[in-house]
Amino acid sequence: MSDDPRGATNPLFNRNKLKLGVFAFNGTGAYMTKIPEQFDPTWANTLEVSQQADRAGWEALVPYARWRAFVEPGHRSGTVFDCYTWASAVAALTNYSCVLSTVHVPVIHPIVGAKMGTTIDHVSNGRFGLNIVCGWFSEEIKMFGGVPLGHADRYAYADEWIAAMKRLWSDPDAFDFEGKYIRIVSGMAQPKPLQKPYPALMNAGGSTAGRHFVAKHCDMAFIPAITDDESYIREQVKAYRKLAWDEHHREIEVWSAVYAVHRDTYEEAEKFVDYYAEEHGDDAYADYFLAEQLTNAQTIPPEMLKRMRRSFKAGYSGIGLLGPGERIANQLVRLSACGLDGILLVWVDFQEGIRRFNREVLPLLEQAGLREPFRGNHESPGD
Ligand SMILES: Cc1cc2nc3c(=O)[nH]c(=O)nc-3n(C[C@H](O)[C@H](O)[C@H](O)COP(=O)(O)O)c2cc1C
Repeated sequence: MSDDPRGATNPLFNRNKLKLGVFAFNGTGAYMTKIPEQFDPTWANTLEVSQQADRAGWEALVPYARWRAFVEPGHRSGTVFDCYTWASAVAALTNYSCVLSTVHVPVIHPIVGAKMGTTIDHVSNGRFGLNIVCGWFSEEIKMFGGVPLGHADRYAYADEWIAAMKRLWSDPDAFDFEGKYIRIVSGMAQPKPLQKPYPALMNAGGSTAGRHFVAKHCDMAFIPAITDDESYIREQVKAYRKLAWDEHHREIEVWSAVYAVHRDTYEEAEKFVDYYAEEHGDDAYADYFLAEQLTNAQTIPPEMLKRMRRSFKAGYSGIGLLGPGERIANQLVRLSACGLDGILLVWVDFQEGIRRFNREVLPLLEQAGLREPFRGNHESPGD
């Protein structure tokens, strides 16, 4: 366990040098393809992935929040389970991994968000985490009758939101909160979360405003996965840690998100990416998504974003882990050597992806000294 006392219940703070998480398997949102054999996000399938990860000692289960489809009503990109209720159910049926919820701060009041988060922290026995999202998809915010804020204001809003949430999670007394955006009159919330002073916090914004927000408030930061150039990644990680330390005297975990295609050979994996992301890539989805990102997000410079079109369709990331287990393990060893604390993974087929990863890649990461063999809770509740 790390020095953080939350490590007693929450594996996000364990001592594994390279932590692992699964991302975006509460819906269809991790890639842009039309192939019929892509992951079908039923409750049974998403639970199966959660339990595969849980039994193998993965640190994080991270759902994504999406309220409406891109492209048109009925488009698969809109098929996503709600994060809080998903996390609560997954928490009840696992017993090791940190189960996160993702919250869009403009559409959930912090009193509601705090209470729901506390409930999941209790259900999970201190394994809850919260991914804070400011709301870059403007149609989504408009759907709630809201007016999308500009980029800087979104983070100012999130700063108030999380300040209010932290008070609700830790203040034993009633308090008034008078912000520019959020007002709470004689606020209180009971019970308090099990994790003290509050559950793990994550934000994945990579813009300047996003990084300052993370440095101030969060435990888990994300560098934008633009390239697998190792010296570039090393600098990104170093700069992020320095920012958190210089500005707030805080140590943070720095993660990145990647996609994986595990096949017997590299060539086979590449061919499969061509098949699902190019030949059968969902170009209308990619057009819509990238246009929104170009207008409303600032993590990735526009020219780079346009060049990343194929890898966005392949798995929402500029870094792909492709090939047999040894090659994937090697790539992870190198990412760890760049200073990354953790990696979130997605697969077009999550179920087979994580099964094969656990069988063929995990042992190699243990041999490389990046992870302790998992001796924890091998039985998931409900088995
Ligand atoms: C791992 C990861 C998870 C994210 N989860 C969500 C999500 O669930 N919903 C969402 O709207 N945006 C999500 N985002 C987007 C970021 O929160 C952020 O808004 C985006 O990268 C733009 O960054 P910026 O706000 O710093 O410009 C995610 C990004 C990453 C890398």
